Amino acid sequence: MRVLVTGGAGYIGSHTVLQLLAAGHDVVVADDFSNAKASIIGRLVNLSSKQITVYTVDLTDEIATEHVFASEEIDAVIHFAGFKAVGESVAKPLSYYRNNIDTAFSVLKAMDAHGVRQFVFSSSATVYGENPVRERTEDMPTSATNPYGWTKVMIEQILRDLAEADESWRIAILRYFNPVGAHVSGDIGEDPTGIPNNLMPFVAQVAVGRRDKLQVFGDDYDTPDGTGVRDYIHVEDLAAGHVAALDRIGTTDQPLSVWNLGSGQANSVLEVIAAFERASGRDIPYAVAPRRSGDLPAYWADPSKANRELGWEATRTIDDMCVDTWRWQSQNPDGFPDL
Ligand code: UFG
Repeated sequence: MRVLVTGGAGYIGSHTVLQLLAAGHDVVVADDFSNAKASIIGRLVNLSSKQITVYTVDLTDEIATEHVFASEEIDAVIHFAGFKAVGESVAKPLSYYRNNIDTAFSVLKAMDAHGVRQFVFSSSATVYGENPVRERTEDMPTSATNPYGWTKVMIEQILRDLAEADESWRIAILRYFNPVGAHVSGDIGEDPTGIPNNLMPFVAQVAVGRRDKLQVFGDDYDTPDGTGVRDYIHVEDLAAGHVAALDRIGTTDQPLSVWNLGSGQANSVLEVIAAFERASGRDIPYAVAPRRSGDLPAYWADPSKANRELGWEATRTIDDMCVDTWRWQSQNPDGFPDL
């Protein structure tokens, strides 16, 4: 298939592009490069030895989005493009609602006009909100605690309504847990702009000497060691989940499916630090700080629906995730170069 990957220059998008190419698909990337460096494209071409068509485009612009579909024979879309920083979304709600929802609208509208019906959506485990049951299953109710999370909940609802209105759609909603790790080459990985919001890139930047020490946000949660517990999933396993979901919606008779993409394993912040110290051979200095507002104590995926229906499972361990993150970070201490 010829697959349009929106946000294909981003962290999860780029790893998925490589796996799509390896699986024999053609890839068209659409990205505005607002949170990605253009130099990643050359690395993707080198790693895959394949051609990648790239559109530098703001997908909130309906006319520009329509132009991509008019210029390319697209068979399916994997939609990653969107803003993703929780804290920033609280400070700039209008910008988050406008960007994330308008982007989804333009893409879905252009798909509709061009008869493209296969859509894989990059959603998040954040849509499970504050459910007291820590192991998340796809049938739980959805909600959110910040504008970023609400954009995911709202786009999921739009997709459900679309699938209800026209059952020729084949939509996969993929709810990611905590993606970490990097391609085994060390040539691509997560490259956050500014101070990292997330645990793993922060730890990696401490290990490489870009930051003095980590703050551990709370050690008095109701968890085995008191620190927050999450389901970390290697970005390569996550990327493989997208390829599997794309295959699956090509054969299913269901207009819409929802799958958790997680490892089903739960690790605390202190366990991640220890794994990173083993992987890097370096100390990770840290200090316990107050809880971060909006954080939940603990949750992880029940990935059994995806395991069963996609024939997919996450195979990489937390140690693999840290080894691969460290290879990327130590080879690229400042992230991707400017072109
Ligand atoms: N943490 C620290 N110090 C840091 C950063 C994080 O102690 O500097 C802790 C957090 O308190 C939490 C754990 O590390 O216990 C993981 O935090 P992350 O920020 O890495 O990830 P979150 O679970 O908060 O958020 C992630 C994604 C969101 C998504 C959410 C939903 O980043 O986009 O999962 O599953 F919405």
